[in-house]
Amino acid sequence: MEKKVFLTRTLHDFALKELKKRYQVEVYSGKSPIPQIKLRSKIKEVDGLICFPYDKINKETIESAKNLKVISTYSVGFDHIDTEYAKKKKIRIGYTPEVLTDATANLAFSLLLDISRRVSEGDKIIRDGKWKEIYGAFDYVGVDLQGKTIGILGLGRIGETLAKRVEAFDMKITYHNRKHISKIREKELNVKYVSFENLITQSDFISIHVPHTKETNHLFNMKIFKKMKKSAFLINTSRGKVVNEKDLVTALKKKMISGAGLDVFETEPIKKNHPLIKLQNVVLAPHIGSSTKETRVKMAEITIKNLNLGMNGKKPIYSVGY
Ligand code: DGY
Repeated sequence: MEKKVFLTRTLHDFALKELKKRYQVEVYSGKSPIPQIKLRSKIKEVDGLICFPYDKINKETIESAKNLKVISTYSVGFDHIDTEYAKKKKIRIGYTPEVLTDATANLAFSLLLDISRRVSEGDKIIRDGKWKEIYGAFDYVGVDLQGKTIGILGLGRIGETLAKRVEAFDMKITYHNRKHISKIREKELNVKYVSFENLITQSDFISIHVPHTKETNHLFNMKIFKKMKKSAFLINTSRGKVVNEKDLVTALKKKMISGAGLDVFETEPIKKNHPLIKLQNVVLAPHIGSSTKETRVKMAEITIKNLNLGMNGKKPIYSVGY
């Protein structure tokens, strides 16, 4: 009997064609993420699942699966999947790192440039017809990057790529990781290791590149915002839950920090009346870190390769643990 694959959202034509050659394929076509009940009923019957970061593949969902061999997520992040439980059930998990490194680092850098030079804010001023006829020395001013310190939290692939970008802008680059990278690599990248405490108290810009885990949940909270420079900016392209959003709103409102550039949020999409939307000192992006034409094609290629390997009982090219 033909093996079954379910996709919680469609992919590129070439990917669907490829999948249809081998499997019986079903694609969920709803406009919002597939409801949990529906996902559970679909997962029951299939051998392979292709999912996205907004799908919750928790224990209950995995429990409904009878034949599932592989979960292939179209993302580098896999915090939406109960990987421990999947492993227990001998279900392979594939994900898509590397190919989205440049795109995500570029987005982090875009947010940094945008918030420091108030580009989106200026765009809004013009569209709202509020560009002043006479404007002076203190209107529409941003801040320079040269000579400023960036603190990269999580110097993995994306963090390293961001370091290369900001070096060209003459920034001082510091980083904090659980482990130091090698001295040679530090020299190559022109980066300096600092403690977490130093990173938050001394950086003019902080860019977050750590996954969301129990340890990083709400890592950035009021206690941290109080320690950051008043002139500092926070950039987050990793996961929304690494930041306590309520505390961030307070910190931004009270000008405890200067601003933020955010691609990720605690709950996505954020609601129309979300307090962040009313703030001037924040740039918001709708979780588009990996969203370039080229990167999305590469992600689709890896997603189906990972799936095919898992369907055949083999380890995906990029595999979580097992
Ligand atoms: C991912 O793939 O996990 C990223 O969040 C995309 O932006």
